[in-house]
Amino acid sequence: MSEKCFSDFVREHLNVGHEMLYLTREDVKSLNIPKEVLYEQMEKALSMYSAGSTQMPAKSHVFPDTHSVYIGMPALIPEMESAGVKWVGAYNHNMRDYGLPALCAHLLVSDYKTGWPIACMDGVHIMETRTPAIAMVAARYLARKDAEVFGMIGLGREGRNHFPVVKDGMPNLKKVLVWDVSEAAMDKAIADFQDIVPVPMEKAESLEYIVRNSDVLASATFFSTDPKPTIKDEWVPKGQTIIVTDLHSQFHPDTINRAALYVVDSKDQQEHLVEAGYFYGTIPEPHCELGDITSGNHPARTNDDDIIVANPSGMAVDDFAVSPIVIKMALEKGVGRILPL
Ligand SMILES: NC(=O)c1ccc[n+]([C@@H]2O[C@H](COP(=O)([O-])OP(=O)(O)OC[C@H]3O[C@@H](n4cnc5c(N)ncnc54)[C@H](O)[C@@H]3O)[C@@H](O)[C@H]2O)c1
Repeated sequence: MSEKCFSDFVREHLNVGHEMLYLTREDVKSLNIPKEVLYEQMEKALSMYSAGSTQMPAKSHVFPDTHSVYIGMPALIPEMESAGVKWVGAYNHNMRDYGLPALCAHLLVSDYKTGWPIACMDGVHIMETRTPAIAMVAARYLARKDAEVFGMIGLGREGRNHFPVVKDGMPNLKKVLVWDVSEAAMDKAIADFQDIVPVPMEKAESLEYIVRNSDVLASATFFSTDPKPTIKDEWVPKGQTIIVTDLHSQFHPDTINRAALYVVDSKDQQEHLVEAGYFYGTIPEPHCELGDITSGNHPARTNDDDIIVANPSGMAVDDFAVSPIVIKMALEKGVGRILPL
């Protein structure tokens, strides 16, 4: 099926305008989207976004307090006949107060031809797989070719999902270091993933150690409008590639300012995040978007000594580049429930 025919495909399986597909997280997970397909969709989404061939207004944030946020994320990708809105809740104290993960997300997907809803699905599984896939796309383009040590700071849902794919971004991977403020999270990450990761996984002895000893350093901790960086600039070695999913909340602005290349996924979104107060101190204007690099319109790494920081804050186009694949696979396999509108 060409992506252009997605609307017609949906019509063959769904009475559009009268019914929609509902997919739980387990439904989405059970489809096992091949990771090669994810990489392909992510590269397309990043490149199309930076080429201006998608529509994606910057995320809208509404804040119940400084530790919590709701985020509305609409997107339209004409090439994929994909349109919809993602609705996220991010409550940093959920686990402490309610025993629930901080993040929840749902995608409401609309029919490209009529605007009617065709699916409502869990967005967390897509998010927790597409985000590490983007990190690996970034690593492929930005890391030194001889990068051997991957460091992961923050071992929650996002951080842990980097492990099954880390070798895809670092072909010369020799070691994985992990760090989390929770000792139990470090033990669990190693127990759960050592069988899958083809190189030794080790607990770093300190935050300083993982920063000083990683060629590619990823962080997936948390962000807030009251960030308090924990990583000292002098710990960051030359040649390091830093790839964050948490708006580099743990990094001092001096590191971001001395990076030879500071890359975001969306300059527009970055501007809104700056305005919303997510960054500590003054940070530079991004040099380019990740999609400029994946499409070859901006050079990637040009010097092995450069520090490069990639800050893909997550875009709705990432999710809505995956949703047509999910819907197609679910309708073909009879996964999920068809609900009346
Ligand atoms: N950029 C994107 O596309 C994208 C997508 C999804 C989530 N996120 C963000 O990624 C981050 C992680 O999300 P998650 O769902 O994995 O959260 P989570 O709550 O499941 O995990 C966070 C982990 O970080 C650890 N942690 C907290 N502070 C730390 C610190 N100072 N040093 C080391 N470890 C620390 C926690 O103990 C926990 O294990 C959040 O900021 C989330 O908003 C970004």
